[in-house]
Amino acid sequence: MLKEKVAIVTGGAQGIGQAIGFLLAKNGADIVIADINGDQAQQTAREIESSGRRSLAIQADISKFSEAEKVGKAVMDAFGRIDILVNNAGITRDNFFLKMKEEEWDSVISVNLKSVFNCSKAVIRYMSKQRSGRIINIASVVGQTGNIGQANYSASKAGIIGFTKTMAREFGSRGITVNAVAPGFIDTVMTRSLPEKAKEGFLKNIPLGRLGTPEEIAEAVLFLATDASRYITGQEINVNGGLYM
Ligand SMILES: NC(=O)c1ccc[n+]([C@@H]2O[C@H](COP(=O)([O-])OP(=O)(O)OC[C@H]3O[C@@H](n4cnc5c(N)ncnc54)[C@H](O)[C@@H]3O)[C@@H](O)[C@H]2O)c1
Repeated sequence: MLKEKVAIVTGGAQGIGQAIGFLLAKNGADIVIADINGDQAQQTAREIESSGRRSLAIQADISKFSEAEKVGKAVMDAFGRIDILVNNAGITRDNFFLKMKEEEWDSVISVNLKSVFNCSKAVIRYMSKQRSGRIINIASVVGQTGNIGQANYSASKAGIIGFTKTMAREFGSRGITVNAVAPGFIDTVMTRSLPEKAKEGFLKNIPLGRLGTPEEIAEAVLFLATDASRYITGQEINVNGGLYM
């Protein structure tokens, strides 16, 4: 389905991003993992290569404009094209608003939101020249509903949704689609650190009665990366077990 396509997955060394890389590779794409954790990125890239696709690990802090730019250039040097960008890297620095430090606000906004600007800037010229491209941004249910202790995180994710719609409008005429996937609560390192009580609380509100898996997010990303979704842009696909409708 994605043969000869080149995909960049930010934060693809582990968790949801890793599942996305594996699934896109399984469907024929070559995968670039751009992650701040270079060792883990290498390991994931090696696993993808052993499945028969080409893969490149790039250690980068994509919250920095110049590092994101370097990723774009390195991918063009290595593969000569960029077809798919999955803006997945993200962090949490939770705190009640009254206690939230400026650093906690700034770091979450930089890694979760500014990086989406940075990486989109790094690929958009190449995609425009190709007159085709897919940008898929990983948002969150929390950007839609808000969440106590996550003023920074929910603002970053709501920001991604506005950015997605604007980019879809600006680049539709160049054959580039821009969409978001909004996961609910997914079983990863990020949610494993939540207190049991909090987990029980939100499980009650999930009609499907369980957390999602990284693979279930990857399936939605795969759909948005393939030709099957060619008439879809500016949308947000909720993959949340019904938590938010
Ligand atoms: N886990 C969930 O329940 C959940 C729910 C909704 C949305 N999300 C979103 O899905 C995405 C992936 O989450 P996850 O649970 O897999 O998280 P994770 O912590 O397992 O993985 C995040 C990856 O991003 C990388 N990263 C962090 N800062 C970076 C930076 N500055 N530059 C480059 N890479 C960086 C990390 O090294 C890591 O490999 C995030 O955007 C997250 O907000 C997760």
